[in-house]
Amino acid sequence: MLGMKKNNFRKFWKLGKKENNTQYFNINKDGELVIFEGNYQYNVRELCQRFGTPLKIMLPYIVEQRVEDLMDLFDDCIRDYKYKGNFYYHYPMKANQCREFVLPLISEGANIETTSPNELWVVKRMWQQNRFNSRIKVICNGPKTAEYLELIAELKQNGLDIVPIIEDLSEKEALGKFRGQVGVRIDVDVRAKSYWDKKIERFGLSLEEVFSLGKINNLTILHYHLGSEMLRASDFVRALKKAMDVYVKLKKVNPSLDTIDIGGGFFGSYYAGKSMYSTKNVVTGIVRFLEKFCRDNEIAHPNIICEWGAHVVGPSQMTVFSALSEKSIPKATAKQWYVIDGSFQTHLLDTWAVHKQWHVVPVNNMDAPKLTRTWLAGLSCDSDDKYTAGGSYILLPRLQDLEPNEKQYLAFLDTGHYQDGFLNHHCLNAAPAKVVCQDGDVKLVRKRETPEDVGKMFGW
Ligand SMILES: Cc1ncc(COP(=O)(O)O)c(C=O)c1O
Repeated sequence: MLGMKKNNFRKFWKLGKKENNTQYFNINKDGELVIFEGNYQYNVRELCQRFGTPLKIMLPYIVEQRVEDLMDLFDDCIRDYKYKGNFYYHYPMKANQCREFVLPLISEGANIETTSPNELWVVKRMWQQNRFNSRIKVICNGPKTAEYLELIAELKQNGLDIVPIIEDLSEKEALGKFRGQVGVRIDVDVRAKSYWDKKIERFGLSLEEVFSLGKINNLTILHYHLGSEMLRASDFVRALKKAMDVYVKLKKVNPSLDTIDIGGGFFGSYYAGKSMYSTKNVVTGIVRFLEKFCRDNEIAHPNIICEWGAHVVGPSQMTVFSALSEKSIPKATAKQWYVIDGSFQTHLLDTWAVHKQWHVVPVNNMDAPKLTRTWLAGLSCDSDDKYTAGGSYILLPRLQDLEPNEKQYLAFLDTGHYQDGFLNHHCLNAAPAKVVCQDGDVKLVRKRETPEDVGKMFGW
């Protein structure tokens, strides 16, 4: 870093790059991370000092922009290919159920996908609060417990557009008399390059099972989901081809079938520093394929649903920690452990669960002349509570160069997807505070949990 020109620090930390989802971030003249919202600007170091760390910083305008871009891309492609079906985005609520994520998506025209009765309860809550336009379609995935089925029936009776998806043979029984549209989920049995590529899939009906069902009352949607954070663009069309072969056969028995739901799976964030495939290429590939397939098979163009969660909400949140102390590491690629004031197992569980690689940047001293190779250690008692960037290292400013009383803050970018739902209280660690930055204002939407808050959950 010695001798590096100011302008190059931005490049070094991979900020201001659309392909890394960092077009919203920059470095100010003091070497600090700043977030742009149009002409508004938020200084991350100031937010950390005001609200303390660990701190989650959420930006609703990023969610709004990403969902709008996605819907525009599909609509443009549909027009270009003279495709007759419509595109519908369904936000998979599992990606992040927090109000600050769901409401901006609804406001931009997203429909909803739920996986559990409690996610559907959120829909009921929004509807009771008059936040919910009954034109919004809600797809109900996940195993249908009695509680889930009851809520599905209740909301349908109240005039909401609820579409339960049949995921196994017993659900055909339970939903056989459902008075409204239903969908069916299949296992397309296609191997995709992703952490979630499993030899044996446990979701959806096998092709044998789905064809054994015969006619399904009011069937409109054929649904599949291949996995998350798919690493190869070509897998989207490979799976779609297999699903469309099923669609054609099912449609002969169920003429009401008119929609293909391709599920989630578009990668959400930075992947070990690599640039991934582009949204435009994947969307174009999907629409182009469907148009040709329907022409060849002489069937009407189906509507297209996608449930890309990570892609839409991932980049709209960052999680910031501060370095508490350092310890040397004698024999490794990294030189120092930085112990942080948060936990990977509590606050960023995907680090442990799926060995996720994060885009980590310092919040202050981004222009430090010297950096050191670090591994990061979490607060808990567990030796797995660490982040080593897959056995490599994380370059960060040296703590010995800090001013007296200065803290070194570290931002983990792209933490909007799944980490809020995965939060837990290992070692009775507390949930961080969360602020939402919108229209130039900063609002504390969730306070840091106190020992009393956490103790109460455990009966104290
Ligand atoms: C049925 C279904 N749809 C959508 C998603 C969202 O996937 P992603 O966030 O990877 O796009 C998932 C994730 O598990 C899923 O199971």
